[in-house]
Amino acid sequence: MIRAVLTGTGSALPARRVSNAELAERVDTSDEWIVERTGIRFRHIAGEGETTATLARDAAAAALISAGLAPGDIDLLVLATATPDNTFPATATKVQAMLAIDDCVAFDVAAVCSGFLYAVQVADSMIRAGAHRRALVIGAETFSRILDWEDRTTCVLFGDGAGAIVLEARDSVADVNDPGARGVLATRLHADGRHNGLLFVDGGPSTTGTVGKLRMKGREVFRHAVVNLAAVMEEALHAAGLPTDAVDWVVPHQANARILDATARKLSLPSEKVVVTVDQHANTSAASVPLALDQAMRDGRIQPGHIVVLEAMGGGFTWGAAVIRV
Ligand code: UT7
Repeated sequence: MIRAVLTGTGSALPARRVSNAELAERVDTSDEWIVERTGIRFRHIAGEGETTATLARDAAAAALISAGLAPGDIDLLVLATATPDNTFPATATKVQAMLAIDDCVAFDVAAVCSGFLYAVQVADSMIRAGAHRRALVIGAETFSRILDWEDRTTCVLFGDGAGAIVLEARDSVADVNDPGARGVLATRLHADGRHNGLLFVDGGPSTTGTVGKLRMKGREVFRHAVVNLAAVMEEALHAAGLPTDAVDWVVPHQANARILDATARKLSLPSEKVVVTVDQHANTSAASVPLALDQAMRDGRIQPGHIVVLEAMGGGFTWGAAVIRV
């Protein structure tokens, strides 16, 4: 059977790395509070000339190299972001132009922190439907540009970055227990718009005509995150026909180390199977899952044949999970 098989990963971070101590010089916070409540130690912040599109381009170029493909081989480019370079055109088309891909389908997906999971399901569906053969799926953000730098309850939590994967239509063994069953095995997505007001940006083209700043009721989001993430991971594993103990690695959205711990505990997953980058990158929204995935692939923790579960939850609320044999 045809599945969307992961053949490459890449990531990119802005040059400037900012410590908690540096932030404590700007707002009333401390390294101790941030580490204890979130696990975050550093975040990268985009400088002049660095945008969502340039970070996405660099991550995509690295993913193409790791897949052994040329830009012209790509026929689908899906970019998840809540911080596009412009209101339009889609940042995906800017990245297409930067990579010099003459013709492909290119569009953005807006599902905030779960954007990458939404993008994976879209690309997987389009590949399995036979419409496309080689997709670049990217998560890229510059949340530093929509943060209220006076608000200590949010500005310490986020960072900028990008991650990308290549998915290719390949023949794959139908039996999910067979190591030859490579590719995206199942995805599950959800949204509940009743929670719009708990995590949002207070501006936009059709309302204020401004870009706006991020606002979040963190404690409420936290409560929903643990419940929803554990549930959607179980759902995706069930849909894939795999038990929890078949999971080699969980690559979660990196919002808060305490959310990662609590979610793993709820599923009785040992913490050694959870990829953690929140300490180094903070919350990079749609970029966080592909960034963490790329790191764990490059340092050899995730090996060919491993079962990997990706999961994320964010503004909307939206949340989702994907089960992939790499
Ligand atoms: O990516 C989308 C998903 N987003 C998330 O998953 C974020 C989920 N939420 C969280 O990660 C946590 O709720 C936070 C890290 C945002 C906050 O942690 P918390 O343990 O829920 O703290 P809290 O909001 O209950 O605040 C505790 C205290 C408050 O002071 P009082 O009212 O107890 O006097 C805050 O004002 O900590 C204070 N506080 C800070 N203190 C020092 C809030 N932010 C800071 C800060 N530095 N940066």
